[in-house]
Amino acid sequence: MIFRKFYRIIFENLCEPNPMLLPKDPNGCPYLILAPMEGVGDRTFRKAMAFIGGFDEAVTDFLRVPTNAHVKSLAKEYDANETHPIPLAAQLMGSDPHLMAEMAIEIASRGAPRIDINCGCPSNTVTGRGAGSSLLKTPNFLYEVAKEVVKAVKIPVTIKMRSGYEDTSLFKENLLAAQESGISYLTLHPRTKVEGYGPPANWQLIAEAKRLLTIPIVGNGDILSVLDAMRMIRETGCDALMIGRGSVIDPFVFHRIRAHYAKDTFEPSWSQLEDYLNRYVSEIPVDMPNKTKINKMKQLMGFLFKGNPQLFSLRQTMLTTAYTTLQSFLDFAVPLLKKGWLHPSLS
Ligand SMILES: Cc1cc2nc3c(=O)[nH]c(=O)nc-3n(C[C@H](O)[C@H](O)[C@H](O)COP(=O)(O)O)c2cc1C
Repeated sequence: MIFRKFYRIIFENLCEPNPMLLPKDPNGCPYLILAPMEGVGDRTFRKAMAFIGGFDEAVTDFLRVPTNAHVKSLAKEYDANETHPIPLAAQLMGSDPHLMAEMAIEIASRGAPRIDINCGCPSNTVTGRGAGSSLLKTPNFLYEVAKEVVKAVKIPVTIKMRSGYEDTSLFKENLLAAQESGISYLTLHPRTKVEGYGPPANWQLIAEAKRLLTIPIVGNGDILSVLDAMRMIRETGCDALMIGRGSVIDPFVFHRIRAHYAKDTFEPSWSQLEDYLNRYVSEIPVDMPNKTKINKMKQLMGFLFKGNPQLFSLRQTMLTTAYTTLQSFLDFAVPLLKKGWLHPSLS
């Protein structure tokens, strides 16, 4: 009798999604993840975002695992404390199952809470070598890569994928291959590789993935506001949300969503945005060339200036004016940002 109960508990735990994987907050707000964004969402951005908080987990932009990888030195790129106290998952991108597994072991030993496998990067330099979204061309191979990584580590392994390479003809096969490999959950950005970031993300495919699979699904793509987040949950039934560009445009989007579940609203003050900007600036590596620093800051501001119509009307001026130092750029752009931030409808 006791044994039967014991086996039932083990069996149920093996079959049921683990509720601790993507826990909701006490108000029922779904688990919120800051998306990986190579180039934009780098260490500087993640650190500034972790400083203001609001989300449950961050993910590194992809760590390449080339076929000649020396995993021990590559793994040093990963720092589990970078976003402390917010956990930081590590995303790996590669196509050699054994090297991917070795890299996962190395990264897990450095304290990663989760390994994510990139099955979405559209870049041809990447896909040319069979990694990223190229894995979506061959569901069996995607299965092989993921299975090796799952076998290698004790921490959860997940996949982040697009809906297909050229089209969605292998969509279901890829979903089933991913689940079969033993991953803990899957994040879906429902655009094909060929679509890039062009057409709207097809949220119906997230709903389809939810119907087909038993593992949890994280919905991703085009969430810019509380309304979008609510609509994503309602229309797809997804278990958690991942936000990328929406968080660069509005770094407080996670706070707003969380507040909504607490039957409240969140309106950040100018000084909160200023604190975020100051943190971002202070995290820019000191040895970065001056021009790169300015371009980096322009990129961040370019997103922030998409935040409302007043800011958008000032965006071109901000981007095209010439600057000699980071400080001269900040002296010009920050007052404009403040004006547009405080008076969103004065266009
Ligand atoms: C500049 C940029 C870099 C990205 N880099 C990565 C990456 O390293 N790994 C990844 O899985 N997805 C990457 N993505 C895709 C995003 O994580 C996300 O799936 C996509 O932007 C859709 O979500 P969003 O509409 O919330 O931005 C990147 C997206 C952008 C815009």
